[in-house]
Amino acid sequence: MTEIERSEIQQQFHSIFGTGGRVRLIRSPGRVNLIGEHTDYNEGFVFPMAIEPEIRFACRARTDGQVRLASSLYPDQIIEFSIHRKIEPGQPAWSNYVRGVAAELIGAGIALEGMDLFVANTLPMGGGLSSSAALEVGTALCFLTQQGQKMDLSRLALLCQKAEHEYACVPCGIMDQTIVSAAQAGHAMLLDCRNGIKQFIRMDEKDLRVVIVNTMVRHELSGGEYASRRKQCEEGAAFFHQQNPAIRSLRDVTTKQLDEAKGQLAPATFKRCRHVVSENRRTADAALALERKHYDRAGELMIQSHQSLRDDFEVSCPELDFLADQAVTIKGVYGARMTGGGFGGCIVALVQPRAVESLGRHLIESYQKQFQITPEVYITTATAGASVVQ
Ligand code: GLA
Repeated sequence: MTEIERSEIQQQFHSIFGTGGRVRLIRSPGRVNLIGEHTDYNEGFVFPMAIEPEIRFACRARTDGQVRLASSLYPDQIIEFSIHRKIEPGQPAWSNYVRGVAAELIGAGIALEGMDLFVANTLPMGGGLSSSAALEVGTALCFLTQQGQKMDLSRLALLCQKAEHEYACVPCGIMDQTIVSAAQAGHAMLLDCRNGIKQFIRMDEKDLRVVIVNTMVRHELSGGEYASRRKQCEEGAAFFHQQNPAIRSLRDVTTKQLDEAKGQLAPATFKRCRHVVSENRRTADAALALERKHYDRAGELMIQSHQSLRDDFEVSCPELDFLADQAVTIKGVYGARMTGGGFGGCIVALVQPRAVESLGRHLIESYQKQFQITPEVYITTATAGASVVQ
């Protein structure tokens, strides 16, 4: 956050909530997942990094136990709830991430005070770049900082995930909250979702740019498709567990075991399992390839990941397919794929620095022509996890 941005957000805070008192500033980044999609809730591998678009928070303690919440995106609303009463989900829907985090912190035995909280975005909401996790983790940091408390980052991620499950009714995995809270600048994170072990892989800015392109569409209806994919994976895992009790999740299934199960599982379930089993392997391979600077290989794996998400996991859509296909026609683009839960949102491309401009131009032009929508392009480095700015 630059000096000017800090003073701007403070001014906005003061004009909504009045002057005086100590105002703290906190930032919480979005994330992009380079590869490893729909593997986190199968105890598998993911490979995300935190990005420059972020949510910024200005907060100030209150002594009456009220939380008053305002957002740059909805200038006329002030949402209010009390931490002295049982915190229930409410309206508008986005406030539930804040309500949920407050409730979970109290549930974890942390004494909270009320606060005035202003939230400003450079991260698109609902664009598949984890605005929900950014809001959750940033909110938690606001409350904790006000109380002079710190929390282990893995515990913080779990608490925020629980808030999302219970207050937003989205049965998400642990990837987003983990990367938003624990990212390291200049690095992507290979996360083993079985045991929480993190390995940071350097993203060399001399060689690489990460380009994210937003389809500006979202076809998913209230998380239903996500929950149904998750259920199919659980059905698959239960089948393999019955065959071999040592198998606890799809993470444990080998390619050979998968091949043997063909014909015994419902065709759709089989395809979901095939995606997860192959995606886990691709993710570990891609992290290794990036570490060794084998960018062509990493790109190839990203392209395969997209195909698997499109054909086997069936969470892509025509807009994502179009952008992913078009991206790799540009010289200097190593690979591209949909990123996040799917059904809209963004693609991510791994690109040589000199190809960034031609890629952006080509995708904007061709996408406009095809869909009559202007996509947003974000060029980003890997940033640090959520932090207190001031
Ligand atoms: C969403 C969820 C994550 C993960 C991805 C798919 O972003 O929040 O936990 O499951 O979808 O990889």
